[in-house]
Amino acid sequence: MSKVKVAINGYGTIGKRVADAVSLQDDMEIVGVSKTRPNYEASIAHDKGYNVYTLANRVDAMKQAGIPAAGTVDDMIAKADVVVDCTPGGIGKKNKGLYEKAGVKGIWQGGEDHELAGCSFNAISNYEEALGRDFVRVVSCNTTGLCRVIYPLDQEFGVKKVRVTLMRRAADPNDIKKGPINAIVPNPIKLPSHHGPDVKTVMPHINIASTAVKLPTTLMHLHTLNIELEKDCSSEDVKDLFAKQSRIRFVGQGISSTAEVMELGKDLGRPRGDMWENCIWDESITMYEGELYFFQGIHQESDVIPENVDAIRAMMELESDGAKSVVKTNKTMGL
Ligand SMILES: NC(=O)c1ccc[n+]([C@@H]2O[C@H](COP(=O)([O-])OP(=O)(O)OC[C@H]3O[C@@H](n4cnc5c(N)ncnc54)[C@H](OP(=O)(O)O)[C@@H]3O)[C@@H](O)[C@H]2O)c1
Repeated sequence: MSKVKVAINGYGTIGKRVADAVSLQDDMEIVGVSKTRPNYEASIAHDKGYNVYTLANRVDAMKQAGIPAAGTVDDMIAKADVVVDCTPGGIGKKNKGLYEKAGVKGIWQGGEDHELAGCSFNAISNYEEALGRDFVRVVSCNTTGLCRVIYPLDQEFGVKKVRVTLMRRAADPNDIKKGPINAIVPNPIKLPSHHGPDVKTVMPHINIASTAVKLPTTLMHLHTLNIELEKDCSSEDVKDLFAKQSRIRFVGQGISSTAEVMELGKDLGRPRGDMWENCIWDESITMYEGELYFFQGIHQESDVIPENVDAIRAMMELESDGAKSVVKTNKTMGL
């Protein structure tokens, strides 16, 4: 069977990682990636063997920078079965018409609204909902991290209520424009934050509310979760359940911060030091007066990457069983 042709529109933090993960799959291939600026990232993409496309008015600038542009974004889309749109939040929606006109499927990221695609995706929670669909949105890094713990808890014990505080990284490590650099920012001040409703785009029946603050760090987000469950269970029962989840990793052994989690990613030899799994301190998993508490670290740059691969597989109906797709993606990526 021929491989599904995948284009990456926007080769930044998320796009470059999705491109590399797709390249590892035996049922899909990259036909091109797009960049607007002819910078080092475009040059490395070309050196890696990706066909680099750009906006119509940037083709000459690419060539002048010594990066042979294979054509325009429209040319790239025409070669694809599915486009993974990894442009900055808010830009992706402008591309919908392009995808519809070209008759290709489209995947957006968490920076776009649910309504754009009509299907918000997390592989373990609602893979089947994306089967054969033309448009899907892979939810944000934070929502992905929340779905990966809430879904199995709901299946096993029933979730009565989730309350979560998200301590968010201020910017990605390569971002020199955002802050704060010396403050803690309640964000948003008006509560609750949008993160709870975003989980409901995947699992509408979950009772969840969230608050969020931005911190002067670039490494990871940290979530403090407090969950009421329907059935009685112990912290050991929760640990046993989480231990069975392939996209959850327990951290301990002297790891007491997000900095050490990211060092672990590097020591494991992960590409770019990525930590694709939710990193849960198993020692923090506590039942207190009938409520569950724990901490998890979320590597914002990478936890959505395996989810994008699974979304392609569902939309292209390469695999109808979500659990099998997850196993295949994990195996190829090395989770
Ligand atoms: N970073 C995260 O923590 C994270 C986590 C989960 C989800 N997301 C979501 O993923 C999406 C992408 O975020 P990101 O962090 O990867 O952004 P990013 O690092 O800023 O990368 C965006 C890419 O899009 C390109 N681009 C900009 N304008 C474009 C246009 N008009 N047409 C085509 N390409 C364009 C940029 O090219 P140039 O650099 O050449 O301008 C860049 O390659 C957003 O929806 C975001 O919310 C981000």
